[in-house]
Amino acid sequence: MVSALRWIDEDSSLELIDQTQLPGETRLLQITTTDALVRAIEDLAVRGAPALGVAGAFGVAIAMQQGAAQGWDADRIQTEIDRIRHARPTAVNLAWGVDQVRPLVGEGLGAVVGAAKQIAQADESANRELSRLGADWILTHCPTDKLRVITHCNTGALATSAWGTAYGIIHELHDRGKLGLVYADETRPLLQGSRLTSWELVQDGIEHVVEADGAASSTILRGLVDVAIIGADRIAANGDTANKIGSVALALACQRAGIPFIVAAPYSTVDLSTASGEQIHVEQRDEAEVLGFGAVRTTPAQSRGFNPAFDVTPHDLISAIATEKGIAEPAHDPRPRMMAELDS
Ligand code: MRU
Repeated sequence: MVSALRWIDEDSSLELIDQTQLPGETRLLQITTTDALVRAIEDLAVRGAPALGVAGAFGVAIAMQQGAAQGWDADRIQTEIDRIRHARPTAVNLAWGVDQVRPLVGEGLGAVVGAAKQIAQADESANRELSRLGADWILTHCPTDKLRVITHCNTGALATSAWGTAYGIIHELHDRGKLGLVYADETRPLLQGSRLTSWELVQDGIEHVVEADGAASSTILRGLVDVAIIGADRIAANGDTANKIGSVALALACQRAGIPFIVAAPYSTVDLSTASGEQIHVEQRDEAEVLGFGAVRTTPAQSRGFNPAFDVTPHDLISAIATEKGIAEPAHDPRPRMMAELDS
């Protein structure tokens, strides 16, 4: 299985697959500075909420090591850690990963690296467990022999420490012999679906088609899919869920079609300090990403762009949220702090 990021003990660096180059080229980045890590996060060389959590945790180690080499004082190290923590605003995992290991800075590099490795291992375990639980829920609620699944963006091994979230459920259904076909939305403007999800689906031998984002709601309303499964960047206490722009269109279509809309995420993506989706900060990205295709400008010079990277699906449109701690059913149980109960 592909690994989006790993710590290299020999030279204390963070190795990333540069996801901007996939599927054409598998280029590795060796990250040894906070500048390089912030750039990799901003440019989406490393991306996906759980992977960002792991990158944030190792980022603390990078700041410490660079600080030792360049004679930074404690304040400067903390400032650099903050830059990593805030490199992207929507996925709560990034700040969460930093906050998990930051208290260990005083105990030295070994303690921080060890804790970051544990976060990566725990993420894989969480993904495998939520995938089992999510697949069980789907098979109970969708009595179809070969399920047709629609998914959005990329939620596989590339977006996590390993295995995947929504993709993990798809993989689990495949392993159980219950998967028919996957509709993978291309995910404009940066094509995480058509570049990355399709790449993982090919490697895993899973039958799929790639479709334009604009096709998704029609695919659902035409009865071509049985269930939608997406990931999450932040799940508020009431179940409102931020995920890649375009996700809410799937949710609305699923409600109309009467089929389940499932969110899959490790519990580290749940943010109980955010009461509802209205308080989620949606990242706005450079307008150039939507005014062209790749490096080629396709719109008139006078046109301006609007490029929110995420949207928020209201909890009442979500049939189930699968985490490693259990399944919540927000559409049926819309109490304000319902997500907290999974942790009790
Ligand atoms: O902008 P990205 O590529 O980081 O957005 C990723 C998503 O929206 C994913 O669906 C989400 O982070 C879950 S990844 C398991």
